[in-house]
Amino acid sequence: MINTETKLFAIIGHPIKHSFSPVMQNAWFEKEKFNCSYLAFEVPPKSLKKAVDSFKILGFAGINVTVPLKTGIMKFLDYTDKAAKAIGAANTIAVKNGKLYGYNTDHSGFSSDLISKHIKVRNKTVFIFGAGGASRAVIHALKNAEAKHIYISNRTYEKARDLAKTFKITAVPAEKIKTILPETDLLVNTSACGMKRTDTLPFEAAGITKNTVIYDLIYGRKTPFAKLAAEKKLKYFSGEGMLINQGAHGFKIWTGIYPDTKSALKLFKKYTR
Ligand code: ATR
Repeated sequence: MINTETKLFAIIGHPIKHSFSPVMQNAWFEKEKFNCSYLAFEVPPKSLKKAVDSFKILGFAGINVTVPLKTGIMKFLDYTDKAAKAIGAANTIAVKNGKLYGYNTDHSGFSSDLISKHIKVRNKTVFIFGAGGASRAVIHALKNAEAKHIYISNRTYEKARDLAKTFKITAVPAEKIKTILPETDLLVNTSACGMKRTDTLPFEAAGITKNTVIYDLIYGRKTPFAKLAAEKKLKYFSGEGMLINQGAHGFKIWTGIYPDTKSALKLFKKYTR
């Protein structure tokens, strides 16, 4: 029952209507019988400061931050964990005594999902396609997991080059991708390629071998990467596992409990059917 004791949580982003987080987090709160409620608010970047001030005044206990606010939120945080600093973005905030504690659970959500799917990274060769915000968390996770080689490419090559410099990994121009595919153990799509029905695979994939596992951060869509996996009979995972696990890490930060990710996946399937 919602009453004056109810602790409030929310996700902010722009757009936010599609978000699965309120369904998932409220189900976890309910399961644990916590008097908590999780809402979603549409916050354009120009209103971020006002939103942050409002959450403090209204006494919210926790906030999730999604696209395009994850970097912009950093300057409002009183404390930032090591990973959020290294990645340059925070997606989870705990509010305590009016102070904002920022964390990044995208990288840990990705790592947890790799582990739960038995996808080995240590001493493996990984190729990341995409060099936007999501890539930074994925690179951080892969470096922590001690990948042997991390290659990165992007539609706009300069962005891949910049990220490669920042994280000390190797940028690969589009025309050279075919040379690294035969040795790629894990291919991660962090780009938005596949969000539009008309998107096509942005590189020549003839050299890919049956040993490559594809992990696509996009979920609920038949992306060019999903089609490639089907065509070549490769193991393929879409992004709902990372989505659920980043939320689970957030729930743990707020409550001390790592929630049931299996029931969340069932809920996700029902929700996206
Ligand atoms: P996010 O925070 O989700 O990573 P982003 O920072 O806007 O989002 O980054 C989007 C990424 O998807 C970029 O790497 C972008 O490539 P560009 O840097 O060239 O813009 C990539 N991207 C978007 N649409 C794409 C498409 N149709 N094909 C290939 N890459 C695409």
